[in-house]
Amino acid sequence: MITTLGKSVLIASLLLVSLEATEDMKKWLRPAEVPQPENNKLTPERIELGKFLYFDVRLSSSEKISCATCHHPKKGWSDLIPTPKAVGHEGRVGPRNSPVILNAAYQSRQFWDGRARTLEDQALGPIEADVEMNMPLDELIPKLNAIKGYVALFEKAYPGEGLTQETLAKAIASFERTVVSTISPFDKYALGDKNALSKRAKIGFELFKGKAHCIDCHDGFNFTDGSFHNIGLRDGELNGKDLGRYLNKRRAAWYGVMKTPTLRDAAKSAPYFHDGSAGTLHEVVHVCGNGGRFKHNVKNKSTYIVDRGLTRSEISKLVSFIGSLTGPDMKLKVPTKFPQ
Ligand code: HEC
Ligand code: HEC
Repeated sequence: MITTLGKSVLIASLLLVSLEATEDMKKWLRPAEVPQPENNKLTPERIELGKFLYFDVRLSSSEKISCATCHHPKKGWSDLIPTPKAVGHEGRVGPRNSPVILNAAYQSRQFWDGRARTLEDQALGPIEADVEMNMPLDELIPKLNAIKGYVALFEKAYPGEGLTQETLAKAIASFERTVVSTISPFDKYALGDKNALSKRAKIGFELFKGKAHCIDCHDGFNFTDGSFHNIGLRDGELNGKDLGRYLNKRRAAWYGVMKTPTLRDAAKSAPYFHDGSAGTLHEVVHVCGNGGRFKHNVKNKSTYIVDRGLTRSEISKLVSFIGSLTGPDMKLKVPTKFPQ
């Protein structure tokens, strides 16, 4: 017997299957295949283990902070307590705003300044950082090895590899590779359901690709070019400024540039920008579309950041469009009991 709910789920899925994106709309749909490194292919055991580690506060020295504190599923994978800059160990405020980890698996560089390449490279940094989890790895690895439940789960997930820094990073990265965007109204629209978007959001999409030039940087299914730009959030003064990618390598082109973030689920993850300096999407769109916060005297401001003369009404349509990139929360059981 098919229940009413079952029936509607069935009809909804048939509807999606029967729809197909036209050639020009295909680039907006998330590829089902998530990139995975050769030496860390996804398995259910690795994902399950990584999920425990991701939510386990014992990975921090205070035993109060986990990865989820700053990248929580209830907040679109951003800070549980929305502050402009991340708050970590003993209330210490870090230098930057927490980005979302949604679709991070598809990024070729991690962090606002791109200093890590893979999720494996990235995962151990926040554990040790004194403004985040403040837990030296040479203490953490023995601590986890003393938890029998974890030793057994690592053995299942990485037979013969042991519970080491490497397998710890690999397990966390495996869980993160499951944190991907779900089907938003915009995706349904891209799949051919013309009624999935409001009229305002449709106009917003046209502005996004046209007059507002957002697509110059926010392109493709994840709405990012994977590149770095200085959008003019600060003026030309050197002092106290976050130099972004230039901190890695002193190249002129990297002065003050930050990674283009995804716009998927952005409605859930205020505040915005690397410095958390914008509280609303309206403000962000105004800054990005109308020439940056500082129009003059910005060293190395992107030539794509130009005053497009967007009106209030156009800005609000662009905000509606960004809202349509919000999918339902992914199905996830947040662990409440951890390996002992
Ligand atoms: C105290 C808050 C905090 C904690 C705890 C924390 N992070 Fe982060 N995370 C941040 C901030 C802030 C950044 C950006 C830092 C930068 O760009 O310099 C970041 C960046 C990232 C990124 C890069 C995303 C991108 O788009 O570039 C990933 C992935 C990530 N964190 C995963 C994790 C994992 C896994 C853990 C747990 C092991 C963790 N974080 C713990 C605050 C935190
Ligand atoms: C020059 C490339 C470029 C253009 C053009 C551009 N953006 Fe951005 N956008 C970025 C970068 C880079 C950031 C992050 C900047 C930072 O934090 O320093 C960003 C940040 C954002 C954010 C905040 C996301 C977050 O999680 O913090 C939103 C929303 C956004 N842009 C929307 C738009 C819209 C809408 C347009 C068109 C009006 C647009 N952008 C035009 C590059 C661009």
